[in-house]
Amino acid sequence: MIDKINQLVGLIEEFAPRTAAEVEEFRIKILGKKGELNAIMEEFKKVAPEMKRELGQRINQLKNLAQERIAELKNNLAQSASAVSSVEDMSRPGSCGTLGSRHPISIVRNEICDIFSRLGYTVAEGPEIEDDWHVFSALNFPPEHPARDMQDTFFIEKNPDILLRTHTSSIQVRTMERQRPPIRVVCPGRVFRNEAISYRAHCIFHQVEGLYIDENVSFADLKQSILYFAKEMFGEKATIRLRPSYFPFTEPSAEVDVSCNLCGGKGCNVCKGTGWLEIMGCGMVDPNVLEANGIDSNKYSGFAFGMGVERIAMLKFGVKDLRLYFENDVRFLRQFDSAL
Ligand code: PHE
Repeated sequence: MIDKINQLVGLIEEFAPRTAAEVEEFRIKILGKKGELNAIMEEFKKVAPEMKRELGQRINQLKNLAQERIAELKNNLAQSASAVSSVEDMSRPGSCGTLGSRHPISIVRNEICDIFSRLGYTVAEGPEIEDDWHVFSALNFPPEHPARDMQDTFFIEKNPDILLRTHTSSIQVRTMERQRPPIRVVCPGRVFRNEAISYRAHCIFHQVEGLYIDENVSFADLKQSILYFAKEMFGEKATIRLRPSYFPFTEPSAEVDVSCNLCGGKGCNVCKGTGWLEIMGCGMVDPNVLEANGIDSNKYSGFAFGMGVERIAMLKFGVKDLRLYFENDVRFLRQFDSAL
């Protein structure tokens, strides 16, 4: 009986079928009702009791080996069969890669720039790693002034004069250095602030800021430009309101609210019942800023504004958690395919 078992083990190990039918035939021969294994089991009944323990184990091993080997061979043949058929079946539909789409932040940033380009603005860009002058000093933040705390800054440890820009107003300074008025630019870009990450704040986000300098630029021009932007971005029904605010680089300064486009101004949980949503800061460029950048503040005046792209995108698309924009989950991103 031992011999018979050993013989079957050898047979199973060497078995090399070419088709699934051969495997099935083999399975019936070994494991089938009238197969080899059952024949052995019949014989096993007659074995002397002291032999049963060892022989029983051997038979079990044989059974396991046969089952595993047959399952493995079946699997291998099924895989190679599908591989062969996919090569051979020329009528099978082709497989195409999924098409990428623009990130919602890029979509909204481009839309903001497009809207202002229709008002004659050009796009300016600048470095993300900046010096103190372009981010703070040229914008009328005196050294050690508490206004610098409005934007928690990442400094480079070895040289605190070098930092990650906290706003793209630094590009406006670079533009004033390069260009004489009239100036009309929008400055999109990534900015960095040392903020705890939550559903409404992140340490990296995107801004579009704008600067308009010419003779006789007034607050009325600012208000009308922002109103035009709000209507283009949120729809013809959108209205705006301005609340007094403070920025070192503008005087007077204001925060801009747009009427809530979800409830139409009636009040809902997104606008916290007020009917208004804050979208940007703005103001008339402080004469100190013009002078610091070599522009005659008696001849020229201007306005500036700045907004967070994530915030505008959240309001436009009704997204409640800002972190979603940074996770790159395709199930989230795919929803914006049609917003292109
Ligand atoms: N730079 C400001 C900020 O990042 C926004 C702003 C720009 C406000 C221009 C007024 C004028 O918070």
